[in-house]
Order: sequence, then structure tokens, then C-alpha cells
Amino acid sequence: MPTYTSLQKEDPAVFAALMGEIKRQKEGVELIASENYIFPAVMEAMATVFNNKYSEGYPGKRYYGGQEFTDQVETLAIERAKKLFNAGHANVQPHAGAPANVALYFALLEPGDTVMGMDLSHGGHLTHGHPVTYITKIFKFVRYKMKDVETGEIDYDEMLAVARKEKPKILLGGFSAFPRELDYAKMKAIAQEVGAITVMDMAHIAGLIAGKQLQNPFDHGFDVITTTTHKTLRGPRGGMILTRDPELGKKIDKSVFPGFQGGPIMQMVAAKAVAFGEALKPEFKEYAAQIIRNSKHLASFFMEHGVKLVTNGTDNHMMLIDCVKSWNLGGGEVEHLLDAIGITLNKNMIANDTRKPMDPSGVRLGTPAITTRGMKEKEMEILGQFMLSAIEKRNDEKALVTLGGKVKEFCLQFPVPGIE
Ligand SMILES: Cc1ncc(COP(=O)(O)O)c(C=O)c1O
Repeated sequence: MPTYTSLQKEDPAVFAALMGEIKRQKEGVELIASENYIFPAVMEAMATVFNNKYSEGYPGKRYYGGQEFTDQVETLAIERAKKLFNAGHANVQPHAGAPANVALYFALLEPGDTVMGMDLSHGGHLTHGHPVTYITKIFKFVRYKMKDVETGEIDYDEMLAVARKEKPKILLGGFSAFPRELDYAKMKAIAQEVGAITVMDMAHIAGLIAGKQLQNPFDHGFDVITTTTHKTLRGPRGGMILTRDPELGKKIDKSVFPGFQGGPIMQMVAAKAVAFGEALKPEFKEYAAQIIRNSKHLASFFMEHGVKLVTNGTDNHMMLIDCVKSWNLGGGEVEHLLDAIGITLNKNMIANDTRKPMDPSGVRLGTPAITTRGMKEKEMEILGQFMLSAIEKRNDEKALVTLGGKVKEFCLQFPVPGIE
């Protein structure tokens, strides 16, 4: 772990906050499905002098001089990303997942054009057209949903019917709260019929695709993939856009810079290169496989103990618990209760939720971070039991304090990479 000597001397307040966060991450169980612990080498690359360099443009085509080494790292990031996801073109400059999606919309659409994405209450992301986002003032968003909430099957017949009527320019896959796989081949066929470009926002499952545990949308003819790099991929906070089509690649590059962003955050580009290098190693496949084994095992454990999961299981790293059906509790109450014993997850709307977003019926949880700490199936049962005990003893403050102590003791047996 870095010593942070200058930080401690120059800014004790920020140093103190950092020490608090390090302690929190070591002592608590992180079950937020979009979070992870980055590779130590990624963390080192982030804290480098690449921060000092302005590199507007792309490797070999920059606006300023002195780009010998920035060109090297960005080219490494691009080439590794292409290899990892079997893409022909990669733009590694988006500052995060949301900017990647916005840059993509502007690359492919004219104002007033339509995007068809997953209904937000069924798992889609804010950037897929939530009314609170500015992009909805410019583009029109229409929806597809699950046909069967018990299995998670998407209603592809309705998707086709809506696509025929609305003629979307983009048919968008991707989600932040959906535990099943999409049928990319069916989506591609629907898109072809209506002349739409197929885009997958794989932000949540990028590491599982990189680790060859879930299907790669490109193998089913998808045109574009957008992603974050900091979830299952264990990279720095950042975004990326991939395509196999050189013409789309040119439009995407122009849209990211100069259309939307300024200079790339070059230390993050360097860190993306490192993360992609890590994900190309054979052991990353095993890591991705263990994330899913853990997720399935925890899901089965819950279901065996009478917990109601949305779609009754999972195919990926996450699951959604219907807290109302399981315990007659709101998702917020469960989040709060587990927080008190050192287990972090988030309240979440579930499909067809009758409650409000700030007080929804569900919680979402995932296994990427705990898998990074080396936890396996046996530990999933221990964690599941901690959670069930907390819910059972929710009115017994003393029992909850004892439980919190046990969680901490258990957790400290699994060091966090980079902050041991
Ligand atoms: C599917 C999906 N797309 C995009 C994003 C946005 O990413 P960021 O928070 O890096 O802007 C997220 C983040 O949770 C996501 O889950």
C-alpha cells in the first residue's frame, strides 16, 4: 500500500478521510453489484505523471507535442481492448460510462431520433433514457420489458412490435439491475428488420464477457459496445466504446473528441491499459467464473431459505431480492439494517414496483468485490446466514452489535488487494 507521506503532511483532512475509507473497505462486506476492488497495478498507474499531460486527439494525431509516451499507453489500451473483446476499433477516452453513452448517441443519431432500450424499472440504466437526464430532451426513448418476471425472459415479440412502429435508430441492450442474459441474436434480427444499429451497454458484465463466461454481443453481430471499466473489469473509473465497423469507429472517435470531451484523462487511460492486460491473463477467466459461481450459490442459498428473488435466480454477478415478498420490509430498511452490521448493498426498484424509487421494494447485490477478496461458495453461505440473522434479529440491538463484530472478524480474513 502507498505510504501517503506527502498527503498526510500537506493535507491531514483528506488523509484522515482516506484512512477512514481504507478501514471501511477492509472491514466491511461490499455487495454493491457495480463495485469492485481494482488491481493494485491499476491503482499504481492511476497515481502517475500521466496526469500532467494534455493529449487532445488520438495516438499519432495530437494537438500538442510531447506525446511519445502517451501515444504508447493509449495504443496499448486500444490494442488490448480490441483483443479482449474481439473488436476492430476501440475508443478508450470516455471519462466514464455515462459520457460514453452520450457520446455514442451523438455519434449515431440526429436530434429527434429514437432509441429503444430496456425499461428502467425492469433494469435499464439512467443513461438509457430516464426522464431526469438531458439526453431525453434531444432524443426519443422507447422501451422493451420482461415478458415474465418469474424467469426474466424479455418480451421479444413486443420488442419487435414496438420496433416496427417506432423505427428506432438504435436498439440498445444493457442494464444495471437485471440478473439474466439477453438474446443478442434475436435482438440483432429485430434490429435488422427495422434498420436499427445494435448497441450493447455491457458496463455491468464487461468482466464476465472478457473472462469468457457470458456471451460476447459481437459474436451475434452487434455493431457497437459501450462499457465502464471499473465494475467487473476491475479497472479505473472510466468508459470505453468498441465497434467492429471502421466507419462507425470514425464517427465515434469524432464524437468523443472533439464533439463531447476535451483532453483524455491520460493516467486513467494508462490504468485502463493495465486493467485490460490483467483481464487478458488466463487467471481472469477463472476469476470471472468464480464471480458467477458465487452469485448462483448465494442466490440458491437465499431461495432455499424462502427469500424471493426477482427472476428466481441469476445468470450473472447480481441478484435482486424482493424484500416485501421475502420479509414484508422495504428495500431501504434492509439496506439500512445490513449497513449497520458492515454489509453494504443498495435498495433498488424491482420490476412493476408499486413503491417509490427512494423507498423501493427491493435490494440489489452482487459478488464481484467479494470474489476479488478470495471468497468462494462456502463464504457465500456464511454471508447469506449473516444477512438472514440480521433480518431475523432486526429488533434486537445487542444481537446486531454482536453480529456486526462477527462480520468484521470474518471480513478481515480476506485481504483487499492493494490495501493489505
Ligand atoms: C449499464 C450502465 N451504463 C452506464 C453506467 C454509467 O457509468 P458511470 O457511472 O461510469 O458514468 C452504469 C453505471 O452504473 C451502468 O450500470
